[in-house]
Amino acid sequence: MLASLLLGRRGPSGFSWSSTAEEVTAGISAAGLTAIVTGASSGIGAETARTLALRGAHVIMAVRSLPAAQALRDAVFAQAPEAKLEVMELDLSSMASVRTFASEFIAKGLPLNILINNAGVMAIPFALSKDGIEMQFATNHVGHFLLTHLVLDTMKKTSHESNVEGRIVNVSSEGHKLAYREGIHFEKINDETVYSSIRAYGQSKLANTLHANELARRFKEESVNITANSLHPGAIITNLLRYHSILDVIHRTLGKLVLKNAQQWPNSNKLEHLFCLANRVRLRPAMSLCTHRQRASLGSTSAIATCTNHVRWPSEKAKDMSLAQRLWDFSIELIT
Ligand SMILES: NC(=O)c1ccc[n+]([C@@H]2O[C@H](COP(=O)([O-])OP(=O)(O)OC[C@H]3O[C@@H](n4cnc5c(N)ncnc54)[C@H](OP(=O)(O)O)[C@@H]3O)[C@@H](O)[C@H]2O)c1
Repeated sequence: MLASLLLGRRGPSGFSWSSTAEEVTAGISAAGLTAIVTGASSGIGAETARTLALRGAHVIMAVRSLPAAQALRDAVFAQAPEAKLEVMELDLSSMASVRTFASEFIAKGLPLNILINNAGVMAIPFALSKDGIEMQFATNHVGHFLLTHLVLDTMKKTSHESNVEGRIVNVSSEGHKLAYREGIHFEKINDETVYSSIRAYGQSKLANTLHANELARRFKEESVNITANSLHPGAIITNLLRYHSILDVIHRTLGKLVLKNAQQWPNSNKLEHLFCLANRVRLRPAMSLCTHRQRASLGSTSAIATCTNHVRWPSEKAKDMSLAQRLWDFSIELIT
């Protein structure tokens, strides 16, 4: 396994550690599908949006940095003039901005098959959002929770009318294990005296996974034809650590030697394949994995986003459905 990783040998899936998103999705059509990708102006979100658009999906790049997203959109148009790629403004740290984005999206009258809750900040100094919520929790979790809540009826309608399974993907992280000991600081979510930038990141990533789990449970209960999953994208060189000077320097120097770039994030090698199979047995449905065969058969939905690296070994907290329910109630209170 290690040799396969180090030498870049292809695994049973036919892909290696260095395979790119374009290579992994070659031959898969996403035509006829509409997707929203948050944080599509940089890193993993940019590459996900680009690849989905190249495969024929109508992609909404939901971003706060319009010029960066427009430049990426123009680069895709240069490569594929027929691509359907739109840039819309969204600041996840502001509930007003999320509501404006959702109402403008709904006003377009488009269907919605895929929602990729990807945007995120990591290890930032303590700050409160415009709504007075700790910034990492506000951006990474609350903004996505509200966005999902507001577009869910459109997704349900789309999956019902088209009979195509909808997909919600929360980009979480193995970093969810770094959350506070209690998991989520419900009572002191905004308390600066207990704030740790790394633990608060872990808390927000744990929330991404719990959110997906609770969504999946509800979809099953209501027989809704949508899946909700959380995933760990792997360790990828992006702009994520820009707020943490020490980690950023390590990431950009030593990391270059061993980490993947954004084009390589959705690959699958033997090592991941094994983890995939193991996880299929170990995890709850919301985090259950796709085999590579399933990846191909899911081509008409969002194989790109769902059948890649998932949260491999979720913490006990991530599997705790009573915690997921509590977070759901807490989040509903925050958004209403
Ligand atoms: N890279 C890794 O190794 C790794 C590992 C595990 C998990 N992840 C997860 O992967 C996701 C994507 O991160 P990345 O590595 O691609 O980092 P990135 O290059 O920094 O991209 C993050 C994206 O999120 C956007 N964003 C941040 N705050 C926002 C806000 N308030 N409203 C709207 N968009 C906002 C950023 O927009 P701006 O450009 O405007 O700031 C950017 O487009 C994150 O959820 C992260 O937790 C990454």
